[in-house]
Amino acid sequence: MPAARDFGRRPLLGAGAAALALPAAAQAPDEPLRATAARRGITFGCVVHSRWLHRNRALADIVAREAAMLVPEGDGKWWELRPDEATFDFSGLDGIVAFAARHNQTVRGHTLVWDFAMRDWTLRALEEGPARAQALMEAHFDGVLGHYAPSIRDWDVANEVVADPWKSDELLKESPWLRALGPGYIDLAYRAARRRDPGLTLTYNDYGCEHDTAYDDEKRRRVLTLVRGMKDRGVPLDALGLQGHLHRDAAFSAAKLTEFVREVRALGLRVIVTELDVIEPEAQSDLAARYARSAALVHAFVSTILEAGAEAVLCWDLADPAGGAPSDPPSPPRLLPLDADLRRTPIWGALARALEGRPLP
Ligand code: XIL
Repeated sequence: MPAARDFGRRPLLGAGAAALALPAAAQAPDEPLRATAARRGITFGCVVHSRWLHRNRALADIVAREAAMLVPEGDGKWWELRPDEATFDFSGLDGIVAFAARHNQTVRGHTLVWDFAMRDWTLRALEEGPARAQALMEAHFDGVLGHYAPSIRDWDVANEVVADPWKSDELLKESPWLRALGPGYIDLAYRAARRRDPGLTLTYNDYGCEHDTAYDDEKRRRVLTLVRGMKDRGVPLDALGLQGHLHRDAAFSAAKLTEFVREVRALGLRVIVTELDVIEPEAQSDLAARYARSAALVHAFVSTILEAGAEAVLCWDLADPAGGAPSDPPSPPRLLPLDADLRRTPIWGALARALEGRPLP
């Protein structure tokens, strides 16, 4: 498995959300988060991975109770779906779809075209020219969208195609797909997905649009440029997924996020939060202070984006599953709604209150 992504880490900037002195995990009413969210017409969910979902019973039981929607962490990517060109290995994602069916949950698809998590055979094929690359994309879409037509009705067709402002002055991120097909690969992918299944919700998913930093300002501008251009060209696009990988010490502006979501929705796009967690620059300091700051940030972000019209919030793990594949390099330190012992943290309480539309205590 390739090295883990940096989750869009950026140089950390000054003061972030005011660190409120939160009590211990605000004991949300013992109502499942999915029910709390549904009372306001919001879908709450989380990421799962087949490598632990059927083995880590304690966490799986919590996921079954709390989430109305699941998203595959890896099972929907090329690396795991396509061990070789002749093979579609649906076993992992089929297991997630079956789990969801047992627990009255939906599954959103993640992700059809990304610059990462592809095996060498795919990368070599993409170097053989545009005709080969297009044929590869279309065969992948035929196989995956065909197989999951009955069970997955929303896909991140493309993921993270916009360049990181702290790495590039270009609009589009370097990628094997860009090298193979040119900048038109994105339109090609969305048109191909729509052609195969007109009823699908086609989503574009990206990170780095959450905070009040010069980088996020520029990333938001670039993402708007991308999706506005797609709409202007009549490219089928229905929703924007904001990943929500929050950075504990980065500044946050409700006004800037609200304005961004307003502009996205003015294009006729729905908005969802797809990968919520809190990334820490370090994990040495006082845990209570770290949780207080993170919980205040989660509450501010989720409250603001729901108020602005987001329809769903999915967490990138409710708790770090112990079953992470040893081949998976450690991801950055993160704070989540549950701790390693599956106990609710202040982030859980903050999330529950944001979903309820209530302020922090
Ligand atoms: C990450 C997984 O969490 C890691 O385990 C894996 O090694 C790399 O991919 N943005 C995304 C997700 O859209 O698919 C990424 O998931 C995290 C960043």
